[in-house]
Order: sequence, then C-alpha cells, then structure tokens
Amino acid sequence: MRSMVRYVILFSCLGLFATALGTAQIPDEFKNLMVFPKDISKDELIANMKNFSISLGVRCNFCHVGEEGAPLSSFDFPSDEKPTKNTARIMLRMKKEINDTFLKQIQHHEGGGIQVDCSTCHRGTGHPAKAEDILADLMKKMKK
Ligand code: HEC
Ligand code: HEC
Repeated sequence: MRSMVRYVILFSCLGLFATALGTAQIPDEFKNLMVFPKDISKDELIANMKNFSISLGVRCNFCHVGEEGAPLSSFDFPSDEKPTKNTARIMLRMKKEINDTFLKQIQHHEGGGIQVDCSTCHRGTGHPAKAEDILADLMKKMKK
C-alpha cells in the first residue's frame, strides 16, 4: 500500500515536471489570435489547446506546423498554414453561438443545462462521423 502511494506521488510529480517542461517551450507572447482575447493568459490559452487536443484525440501538429514528437520550441504556432487551424476558429465561434444564442432559449432540465464543448460532437476524433457510418464500419470489421 505504501509503495502504491509512493508511485502515485512519483507519477504526479513527473506529470507536473513534464507539463512545466512542455509549456516552457511555448512562446509567452501570442501574435495571431483572432478569437481568443489578445490578453489571454498563457495558462488559459494552453488549457484551451489541451482541451482541443483531448476532445479531438489529436496532437498539437493536427492544427499547427511542426513535426510530431519534435520539441514544441520548433513549432510555428502563429502560422495559419494548416486549414484545420482555421476550421478550429470557426468551431470556436459556432460553439459560442450554440451556447449563448440557442441553448439560452430553451427550458433546461432540473439540475441545469449543459454547455456544448468540442468533445460533445467530436468525442475523441478529429472528424466526427455519423452514427450509422460508425455502425456500418463496425459491422464490416465484425464480418472479417
Ligand atoms: C484543433 C486545432 C488545434 C489544436 C489541436 C491545437 N491548437 Fe493551438 N491554436 C489553435 C487555434 C485555432 C489558435 C488561434 C486561436 C485564435 O485565433 O484566437 C491556436 C493558437 C495557439 C497558440 C498562439 C499562437 C500565436 O502566437 O498566435 C499557441 C502557442 C498554441 N496554439 C499552442 C498549442 C499547443 C501547445 C497545442 C498542443 C497541446 C495546440 N496549440 C493544439 C488550434 C489548435
Ligand atoms: C456541434 C458539433 C460540433 C462541435 C461543438 C465542434 N465540432 Fe468540430 N466538427 C464538427 C463536424 C460535424 C465536423 C466535420 C465537418 C465536415 O468536414 O463535414 C467538424 C470538423 C472539425 C475540424 C476539421 C477536421 C478535419 O479533419 O478537417 C476541426 C479542426 C474541428 N472540428 C475542431 C473543433 C474544435 C476545436 C471544437 C471546439 C471549439 C469543435 N470542433 C467543436 C462538429 C462539431
């Protein structure tokens, strides 16, 4: 039991260390923000980027110019070269519109309504598929 606790503490420290290392390689000033406020804190911006990555099940280079596995200091984050980055901006605006304009108008169930986030639709994939297509794919795999 004690060694379990020790492992948990060790891994949490490693996690914190890795996060600190990772964010130190990301610039402190942002040059090309069009949706987030220009004075957003680095912590908040990175929390959003991590949320994008987890919700879509992708790495930073899905939207940013950089090699998978290469140090983040070699990435060109301000670049708009990848079309997925601009799509993500449109998705951010869409999410805000759904929450602030549409979901505000409905009567919520007891306990309050939920807000739509990237994960609501994406559920861990970059390209959300229709449920029937996912099912059809599964059926094909089962037949093999
Ligand atoms: C789904 C696409 C997507 C993913 C994945 C993503 N980003 Fe971003 N990132 C964006 C978008 C969109 C912007 C610009 C937001 C705006 O215009 O306000 C941005 C902006 C940034 C910026 C600011 C660049 C500048 O100077 O203007 C940094 C730094 C950044 N991302 C880091 C990361 C890191 C680190 C990761 C991986 C943990 C990551 N991003 C993953 C879409 C993404
Ligand atoms: C209401 C559902 C919904 C929400 C919420 C949503 N998305 Fe999407 N997203 C989609 C759909 C559907 C597509 C596929 C569109 C197409 O190509 O037909 C997509 C496509 C994308 C793509 C393009 C993927 C590619 O392979 O080109 C990116 C990037 C993306 N979304 C990022 C985001 C981010 C980041 C968020 C949260 C800010 C978000 N999405 C929230 C439904 C959603």
